[in-house]
This record gives sequence, structure tokens and C-alpha cells, in this order.
Amino acid sequence: MDEVRVAIVGMGIGRANGRSLQKNPRGRVTAICDIIEWKMDAYAKELPEPVKCYADYREMCEDDDIDAVMVATPNQVHVPVALEAVKHGKHVLVTKPLSDSEASARKLVEAAEAAGVVNMMSLGMRFSDPVIALRELIDQGELGEIYYSRARSVRRAGIPDWNADFIQVGGGAFRDMGVHVLDVAWWLLGMPEPVSVSGVGGAKFGPRGRHYWRFQPPAPEYAAKFAVDDYAGGLIRFAGGVGLQIESFWASHQAPPTETQVELFGTDAGAQLRPLTLYRTVDGAPLDITVTPPAGNTGFDLVANHFIDCILDGVPCQAPLRHGLIVQEMMEGMLRSAEIGREIRMDERL
Ligand SMILES: NC(=O)c1ccc[n+]([C@@H]2O[C@H](COP(=O)([O-])OP(=O)(O)OC[C@H]3O[C@@H](n4cnc5c(N)ncnc54)[C@H](O)[C@@H]3O)[C@@H](O)[C@H]2O)c1
Repeated sequence: MDEVRVAIVGMGIGRANGRSLQKNPRGRVTAICDIIEWKMDAYAKELPEPVKCYADYREMCEDDDIDAVMVATPNQVHVPVALEAVKHGKHVLVTKPLSDSEASARKLVEAAEAAGVVNMMSLGMRFSDPVIALRELIDQGELGEIYYSRARSVRRAGIPDWNADFIQVGGGAFRDMGVHVLDVAWWLLGMPEPVSVSGVGGAKFGPRGRHYWRFQPPAPEYAAKFAVDDYAGGLIRFAGGVGLQIESFWASHQAPPTETQVELFGTDAGAQLRPLTLYRTVDGAPLDITVTPPAGNTGFDLVANHFIDCILDGVPCQAPLRHGLIVQEMMEGMLRSAEIGREIRMDERL
């Protein structure tokens, strides 16, 4: 096998993932799938060669000319598609979050690992140049012992209104945005074992029809369906006493229109991700160093390249679905903690 024939399911962000897979000389998008025909037609026109179009992912997974499936359907439909794919021995690349619930995420991870296929999360932020550069600095010991992190992904007016799945059970701000910074902070901390989570959260804007994408009011029936968090925040405690404070808001009253930031606090230096900066103390005085990471690839390009290298060259996967499961466990734990109003130990939920 010298190329990977990929099927893309879901013609939203799936198109961007497909472009990156197609850009790799050893990747080829040979099939696409969506329940909306015009979306498939539009994307098919972009591709350099004719592709097979499927309205039903089950039928698509029967196709022997597909080696791998990229899953980019709404959160609630990741696991059904990915499970069908691994059942047919296809490698899978799944967008974030892994699933809409912890139980279904676990079921998928167990099935994918048992099937022995390459199974990977599409994490455009974890695979972005600044995160890779910061991880290298951490591995070189630049920060010393990292004992604390702050991560946030917040918007002023950014409740998505293009797909009602985002605002129904299994969607929500944390699973949409918080998941990126949670994954990156956890990855940069060295993937410590989570011990407990304590969260607050709820919906202050969505049900009132306020602060939707760019302040555009949604249709009234859309706001009436709102059933998820539009803000969440809290603390995750890891083994060894390391802490992560996290915030995720789709909507808020605040100065910057959007902010996505991860900060790390180490014994020798601190760091922030955007722009990538190290904070040191040299000869008793503060020294801030801006680091310019190499640029050129998008995160999705690097995800696509790694996925293909894992399949064709047997490279160990840096972002297996199991990582997505651990992130999902922390996330669901925080949302549950917000619901019941107290800290939850990870082992009490097993
Ligand atoms: N940076 C990122 O990694 C990133 C960015 C955006 C979205 N996402 C994730 O991608 C997923 C989709 O988000 P989006 O913004 O692309 O939404 P979207 O609504 O633009 O696209 C989803 C597509 O899936 C299709 N679909 C729904 N059910 C299907 C089914 N059963 N079979 C085939 N197709 C089906 C829809 O018709 C739609 O075209 C979400 O889970 C979201 O969290 C990730």
C-alpha cells in the first residue's frame, strides 16, 4: 500500500480536513458522505478527481476501495460513524470532541483498539506550530517543573447558529471550544492523570436569543431549543498536585471579541501560547522572550501528514482516540460537577 484512500463524512469542517489529506502526496480523497446532497456536490467539484458520493455512511463503509474514514459529523454522530468504520477495518480520524458522552467515547475507543486500526483525533490546535514549538521547549527543560496552567477559549458573541446539533444535548460551548484548550493544556502538562474536577457552568445567553454568532439574532425556535452550556469554568486537579484552571464561553460581556489562550507556570519559567512567549527571571530582573515558531503548515496539514505516516509507515500515533477519551472524561466530569454543585473525584465515577 503506497497511498491512503480516504472517505470524508460531514461536509463542514470535514472539507478542510479533506483538503489537507489530499495535499499529502500519499493521501487521496476517494469518497465523501453527507445527508445534504448539495454540500457533497459543491465539495466534489473542488477535488481534482471524481469521487464517490454517499448519503449513507453505513453503505459507504462497505466500500472496499476506502482505507480510512475521516469523521466530521456533529458531535452526536461521531461514534456511530467511527464504530461502523472500524467494524469494517477502516482506519479512523475523528474530529473533536471524541463524542457527545463519556460512555459512547469509551465504547468507540475499545472497539477501535480491538480492531487494531490506526485511530486518531483530528486536533488542529494540538498539532499547530506554536503548540509544537512550546512542547519542544518544555521537553528541553526550559520551564523546569510545571505546576499550574490556565486555559481559556472565550467569545463575546459566538453561539453557533448554523447547526442545531451544537445547542442540543451532546453539544455546548465546552465540547465545542473548551475541548481544544483543555486538550492542549493537558498535552503540554505532559498528560498527567486527572484526580478530580470541580466545575460551574450553565446557559445565560443562548436561551434568551442573545450573543449568537456576531450578534445576529437566531430564529426564535432555535433559542427555544437551547439545551446546553454557553459558559463553563473550573479546576482540574492532577496527580502530583498539578492544577489546571479552565474557562470556555460561547458568549460573555468582556473586552476581546474572542480569546484562545493557554498559560503554563513552571519553576524556571512561565509561558503563554498566543503569542508564544517565555517569562524568565535573569539576574533578578524579569525577561520576556517572544518565540517565533516555524510556520507554513496548518494544524490540519500536520494532522493529515501524521495520520498517513501512522498508516503507511507504522509511526506511533501521537493523538490516539484514547487521548480524546481522557479529555472527554475530564470535560464530562466538569459539566456534571457544575450540575450537582460539588467536586467530583475521577475514581468515584468509574
Ligand atoms: N477545529 C476543529 O477541529 C473543528 C472546527 C469546526 C468543527 N469541528 C467539529 O466538527 C464537527 C462538525 O462541525 P461543523 O462545524 O463542521 O458542522 P457543520 O454543520 O458545518 O457540518 C456537519 C455536516 O455533517 C453532516 N451530517 C450530519 N449528520 C450526518 C450523517 N448521519 N451522515 C453524514 N453526514 C452527516 C451535516 O449535513 C453537515 O453537512 C463537530 O463535532 C465540531 O466539533 C472541529
